[in-house]
Formats: sequence, structure tokens, C-alpha cells
Amino acid sequence: MKKMSSKELRKEWIKFYEQRGHVDIGAVSLIGDGTTGVLFNVAGMQPLMPYLLGKEHPKGKRLCNVQGCVRTNDIESVGDSSHVTFFEMLGSWSLGDYFKKERTIWSYELLTQVFDLPKDRLAATVFSGNENVPKDEETAKLREESGFLKENIYYLPKEHNWWELERGPCGPDSEMFYITDKQPCGPNCNPSCDCGHFIEIGNDVFMQYDRISDNEYEPLKNKNVDTGWGLERMLAFLNTNGDVYFTDLFNGAIKILEEETGKKYNEEKSTTVSMRIIADHIRTSVMLLGDEKHLTPSNIGAGYILRRLIRRAVVQAKKLNIKTDVFYEIANNFIDDVYGDVYPNLIKSKDFILTELKKEIDKFEKTINSGMNEFYKLTNRLINNNVKVINGPDSFKLYDTYGFPVELTIELANEIGLSVDTDAFKEKFREHQEKSRVLSGEFKGGLASSGEMETKYHTATHLLNAALKVVVDKNIHQMGSNITSERMRFDFNCDHKLTDEEKLEVENLVNKWINEDLEVRKETMNKEDAVKTGAECMFIETYPDVVTVYTIGDVSKELCGGPHVERTSSLGKFKIVKEQSSSAGVRRIKAVLE
Ligand code: ALA
Repeated sequence: MKKMSSKELRKEWIKFYEQRGHVDIGAVSLIGDGTTGVLFNVAGMQPLMPYLLGKEHPKGKRLCNVQGCVRTNDIESVGDSSHVTFFEMLGSWSLGDYFKKERTIWSYELLTQVFDLPKDRLAATVFSGNENVPKDEETAKLREESGFLKENIYYLPKEHNWWELERGPCGPDSEMFYITDKQPCGPNCNPSCDCGHFIEIGNDVFMQYDRISDNEYEPLKNKNVDTGWGLERMLAFLNTNGDVYFTDLFNGAIKILEEETGKKYNEEKSTTVSMRIIADHIRTSVMLLGDEKHLTPSNIGAGYILRRLIRRAVVQAKKLNIKTDVFYEIANNFIDDVYGDVYPNLIKSKDFILTELKKEIDKFEKTINSGMNEFYKLTNRLINNNVKVINGPDSFKLYDTYGFPVELTIELANEIGLSVDTDAFKEKFREHQEKSRVLSGEFKGGLASSGEMETKYHTATHLLNAALKVVVDKNIHQMGSNITSERMRFDFNCDHKLTDEEKLEVENLVNKWINEDLEVRKETMNKEDAVKTGAECMFIETYPDVVTVYTIGDVSKELCGGPHVERTSSLGKFKIVKEQSSSAGVRRIKAVLE
């Protein structure tokens, strides 16, 4: 096996493919462009979808790159030795050019000549077929001809050997594995098993279909190949015992954490897990903040995931009993020593990254410091009374009175062997929402005229929220709202008093949207899907599984209980009557519809 640094591995990958007629197309933003229904770029092929579907690529038919990807679907697994939320995918593509023969020969050359892996340690899987697509005997034969041992080739069904996203180009794949010294777990042990006998190295996808709905596939005009290997895993595998945190990507971060805690990595399980989570989450946060699209933490979509990553890292710092100042040292290490030369954007955006990171950490720490005391008072009492579950009223009090996010309560509770009754929490949260709606008049009598005015102020509130984002700051979010039949009141995060020009522009924009007679569309969907659409919401974890999303034209999308008007033209004229401070960092607008 050849030892390599991360920088060498990236170079070797590109060199190998350039020698075979491929063009390095470089990487694109980590943030999804909104066309594929995913928040982040999750695979190297994602930005290439139009070309895999048949559009001509300006750089030709043979392409390669190293593309950063973010996958947070198994964020809960981060903390073991191989899961990460950001990773680099080593990719190569044939757009209707070569197919299975060249692909299998080159994969074998990479494995045995570039990375020096012994042939008897290699295994591969191929698609075992279903009612629509035949068993891939051709790839099995070609793998064998390229040099794989016949007994190390396994046929597996669609759940293991098919690559697809929600929509778009897809097809059967053939994965490559390394056979480790770890004994197989039994006579049926195969590469789909996670006992550690087989470790996945890379994936060759033979893209021949377009997934046009959940169960409908149309053949593609071209037969493409989409190849992806995970850089972190490969690196770990070539240089260490398979632990990605031992590689040159994470050495610096782990060393900083060892110095700060006075403890050694990999000696004690819970410390090691916390170190890994901090290193991983800070790395991904640096990459997202430093991305060309400059994501910032927020309560919606991708921004919410970033917020969650930073907050989860803060929780782990509390657990390790270290100050979060160490995060800036770690971020600097990633920017200056690990990634700066490959991702120059990070150097350019260094101040922005560190400032935004600090803003979010400070905000969160302020909240949790007081909540933390209450949390431990409560849990000591429960433990002394042999109670294992935090009930709805207690978890809601932590949230409502001390601003303690429920996911933090869950995380901290789990660490000390307690759990949280989340259904009871949700119930309390809903009760509270209903109470405030009744107080604000939302449920006052049906279609009586005062009710209608309220029905209208709700819609105007969404428009105001959207206009503030456009005119003042895209990171503005609702912090509170109160509606009567006479007026609306809207609180939002903002660090300055609005200028007269800003107020006028906001008013004009809301009135423009009203005059455009936009449609207000109501949709019911499950919570996960709602987050993916980028719908604005506060504290997503407190919503029920099925939620209502209101979309106004293409200007606003929010999770909301409603009710709303059907078209904006019925609102009349929007006018701001007052703008004032509500509390630190929060401004308040009072407005009327005339
Ligand atoms: N798109 C393939 C994957 O991500 C290569 O596994």
C-alpha cells in the first residue's frame, strides 16, 4: 500500500485521469443550487446532472475533479472513526464516451498500480438485477478480466448496488472494496455487511436511466460512467488503521484538542468521540462559511444545518470542559495549514469565517450558560428521585424560560443516561402556540370582518418578513409576532435602527407584491421535505411531523398554521407606523393595512 498525503492523493487522482484524456473541471459551491431538492452538494455528479442527461459539456466527454460534498443525513454517526459531514469526492466521468470495459481496467490500474493494493485483497460488487434491469454479468466478467479474483465478486440487489438521487441520472453500480485482516462475521459475510471485513474504496456507476418520478425510470440517450471515491476514507486506509481523524487533514485539530483537554486522542471513548465531533463540525462549518455562496447560520434550510453543526460543537466543548476559544485555533488550522492552498476562497474569506463563527458561538453560549445551570439542577433532582425521563413541562420550561433548545436538552440528557419525552414537549409547545394565538386574536370568529383583517395581517406579516430580507439583511428572521384586527406587530433580529430609506423601501416592496396579486398557496407536507424546500420556520424540532407551508408567489415560503388570504391584492395598502427597539438585537415594526 502506498503512503500518501492528502495533497498527493488529490494530485495523483487528477494526473491518472489527465493521462487518460480527462479534463479537470474543478469544484463548485457546496451549497445546492435549489434544482435537485437537496440542500448541499452531496456527490461529485450533482452539478453535472444536465450533462449526464445529455447536454454537451464545454470541456468534453471525459471529465474529472475533486469536489467537496456535505452529507448530514447520518450526522448522528459522526463520532466514530469514519463518518464525516464534509468530505471530498474524487470523481471522474464519461459522458457517453467509454463505458464498462475501460472503466473496469482503469479502476484495477488505480487500485494496484497507483495505490499498490494486492490483488487478492480486492473485492467488488455488481448489480444482481430486478424486474426492470438485468443482472450485470457483463461488469462481473470485466472485473474478472481486469484482475479481480472471481471468488471476490458479489452480486447484490438494488438497495446496495444502485445509485440515484431523488430525480435525475441513475443506474446500477459496482463498488470496490478492500478485504481487511478482520475475520468475516460468518459464512454469509459479504461487502454489504459492516462488520469490518470489507472496507469500501470507491464506486463506479453505470448511468443509463433518468429517474423521472419515484418509480419511473426512462432510458438515457447516452451511457455514462460516474465514478466517485471518498478522499478521507482512502487516505485513512492508505496511511492509518482506517481512522480518518489520524490523517493529515485532522492531525492539527486533534492536537489542539489534546493540548486543551490534557487528554490523549483514542485513549478514552467519550473524550475521543467529543474530539471527533468538534473536529468534524468545525471543519464543515469553516467550509460552509468560506464557500463562495457564504452561507451563514439561520433558522432555515442549509443555514439551519450550519447553525446546528456549530451548536453541536459547542455542546461537545462543554462536555470536555474546554473553552470554545479553541474553535478559532482549529478553524485557523484548517484554513491556513490544511486547506488554504487547495481552496484559496478560505484564505480570502478568513475574517468572515471567524467573525460569523464567533457571532453564532457567542449567541448560543449566552443562551445556554444560564440554561445549563437549570438543566443540571433539574437532572440532579430527577436522578436523586430515580426518574429517568425529563417530562414535557420541564423540557418546555428550559426552552421557554431559559431559551434552551430542546435538541440540546436531548443531547445532554442522553449523556447522563436520561431521556426526554419529546412528544410531551411538542404537546406543551403546541399548547403554548395556541394560547398565544388566542391572545393575539387569531381564532376570533370565522369570517367576521375583524377576523378577515386578521386572516390579511398574517399574509402581510410573511410579506414584511420577506421584504426585510431583501432590503435590509438576508439573515433577518421573525423573532415574534402579534396580530389584532387593527394592526400587526413584528419582531425581528437586526443590529441597527432602520433608516428612513430602508423603511420606505420595505413598504414599497410589500406594496409592489400586494399589487402583483400573488397567489398564496397552501401545502401540507412532512417536516423533512418542508425544510428541504427552504421554507422559513423557527425551531423546526418543535413542529409536528406533518406541517403546513404557505408560499406567496415566489417571494415567501414559510411554515405556518395560517390562516391566509388567497391572493395578495385583497390586502390593501401596507404602511409602517412605527419602528423601535424591542430588546437587545431585536427591532419591532408596527404596521397597518389601509
Ligand atoms: N455518485 C456515486 C457515489 O456518490 C459515485 O457513490
